[in-house]
Amino acid sequence: MSKIKLLNIVGARPQIIKASAISRAIRTTFRQHFNEIIVHTGQHYDKELSGVFFAELDIHRPDYNLGVGSAHHGRQTAMMIIGIEEVLLKEKPDCVVLYGDTNSTLAGAVAASKLHFPVIHIEAGMRSFNKTMPEELNRIMSDHASTLLFAPTNAAFKNLRNEGFKPENSPPYTIDNPKIYLTGDIMYDNTLFFSELAEKKKPGFLEDLALQPGNFVLVTIHRDINTDDHLRLQNIIHTLIRLASDNEITMVMPFHPRTTGTLKSKLGDLNKELHNNKNVIIIPPVSYLEMILLEKHCRMIITDSGGVQKESHFFGKPCIVLRKETEWVELVNNGTTRLADADPDHISANFLKFMEIHKNLKFPKFYGDGKAANFILNEIRLMFEKE
Ligand code: UD1
Ligand code: UDP
Repeated sequence: MSKIKLLNIVGARPQIIKASAISRAIRTTFRQHFNEIIVHTGQHYDKELSGVFFAELDIHRPDYNLGVGSAHHGRQTAMMIIGIEEVLLKEKPDCVVLYGDTNSTLAGAVAASKLHFPVIHIEAGMRSFNKTMPEELNRIMSDHASTLLFAPTNAAFKNLRNEGFKPENSPPYTIDNPKIYLTGDIMYDNTLFFSELAEKKKPGFLEDLALQPGNFVLVTIHRDINTDDHLRLQNIIHTLIRLASDNEITMVMPFHPRTTGTLKSKLGDLNKELHNNKNVIIIPPVSYLEMILLEKHCRMIITDSGGVQKESHFFGKPCIVLRKETEWVELVNNGTTRLADADPDHISANFLKFMEIHKNLKFPKFYGDGKAANFILNEIRLMFEKE
């Protein structure tokens, strides 16, 4: 049988990291089965949000970079659809693999499904049940344009069933007869693979930032709800500065350019205060291996990121989420992740509680066995063998 032509679509930071798990599994286990093509929409373009990951995670450079860049949702997604469609018509892949829930995911789902290329959605079934989140719309629409759907958690699998997807569907799978799987999380595959490597490849990283293992808090903020509403961001940052000072603990904040942008344009005084505060270290986005070191050695994580929430669990760290809800509900049910929204009282109370009990928390394995990418590629292979 000839090789399966698998076309990956990435665009935002976490998708490049996710795609590296699939790329690695192809290289190590499925080389004779797949030819891989990478299309980068260009949604993220700064070196710290894109190039650094290709270099560090040993993924080959994108075969196509559509260079779409930043724009309002409609324009950005439309430009991606146009670019992806052109590539699909030229390459005629056997299948199109999408990751997560960004505008790049949605654009890939629309372009590929309308041209009748089978869509494979990795991280399917995640739901926040909040359709004001752009990601929630992207997830729902992408799932319903897919042929194979790989759900990372029980909750995600259940969500798909509740939306009418039938686990008992039998081949041949199509967009009208899709197949859903419970797989575990490819981000867990990555954590296991890169955790030791990060220590070896980044010696001195924590020391250079004057961070003491176990004695700092990692903070990331990038979601539109927290960055586009500058008063909300102000509330969060004021609370964090106060908690850092009162508890004499360092907070390290590798901020997304979106957050830095709002701080500079709308919260100039607070931005200065942040940079002058001896308990706060503001840095540009870090590489994935550097991020792993921060997550592995911090005391606690405060974030609005989906990926960072899970990584907090992988590394056994309590996590405060700066949102009202999360898709990773098992973490909240486990009591190791707490939802604080942007509420100063909730952030403070949870922070103090976690400072007290951080050593007594349990982190069960919710996200598979670290071999989700192999499982996924094997199922894709079988789909084409059965045809
Ligand atoms: C996007 C995803 C979000 C994901 C996040 C991962 C959507 C709707 N959102 O959010 O789900 O969690 O990526 O990080 O797809 N910018 C730069 N440099 C860049 C890219 C962006 O400065 O390389 C700035 C621009 O001002 C841009 C803003 O960040 O307007 C937002 O970028 P965008 O890609 O639209 O969304 P993210 O917030 O990055
Ligand atoms: N990440 C990183 N450097 C950073 C911040 C995040 O490498 O400065 C990684 C993080 O470890 C995780 C992924 O990016 O693997 C999460 O991406 P992000 O928070 O941007 O998006 P989300 O997961 O919320 O979609």
